[in-house]
Amino acid sequence: MTEVFALAYPGGTVELAPLDREDLQSLVQLTRKLMEPLLRSGFGFQWDLRLERALMNDLTRQPVVLVIRRLGGIIGYVSLAPGRPRAKLHALMIEPSHQQQGIGSAVLELVEDRARALRAREIVAAVQPNNRQGLEFLRHRGFADAGADGANVLLRKTLV
Ligand SMILES: CC(C)(COP(=O)(O)OP(=O)(O)OC[C@H]1O[C@@H](n2cnc3c(N)ncnc32)[C@H](O)[C@@H]1OP(=O)(O)O)[C@@H](O)C(=O)NCCC(=O)NCCS
Repeated sequence: MTEVFALAYPGGTVELAPLDREDLQSLVQLTRKLMEPLLRSGFGFQWDLRLERALMNDLTRQPVVLVIRRLGGIIGYVSLAPGRPRAKLHALMIEPSHQQQGIGSAVLELVEDRARALRAREIVAAVQPNNRQGLEFLRHRGFADAGADGANVLLRKTLV
């Protein structure tokens, strides 16, 4: 997954490209926008610089991080550890103004196809228990609850 490529979704196309260091700050800010309210209400967590640095380090260490662009602007990202037999979806984040258009579904399908091609038998994701949107999104796409991953809900999907 090192090339830049176009991915079709029902409303058009988005461009996916490997993470560039220059993108890190935008990805952190997008993560903050989407996650801070959930972390605060669910875990009483305060977003701070330490957390931002940890997230940046984490992103640079993930085996696969693809930045999603539309008309040149960053509108999301996906990060994945494509293990065998189990791949792990670390994050799928879509900018709120671009949600509900089928982009998340198209990206998830792509990630599942790639994991399958790398001979993963299943894909898992850990989602905050109060992240109803994230939980429902994955459950509607074949993921089932598979216990806990720390304080999060573990979801699993068999890849056939
Ligand atoms: C979860 C998330 C990635 C979904 O991204 P998205 O781009 O909105 O996903 P989609 O548009 O493909 O699907 C979302 C909903 O919009 C609906 N939708 C898709 N295309 C649509 C369209 N053209 N018009 C109206 N609704 C549409 C889908 O049916 C879906 O609803 P469903 O889950 O009930 O089936 C996004 O909400 C997000 O970034 N959330 C915060 C982070 C997170 O929780 N990530 C997931 C766990 S890692």
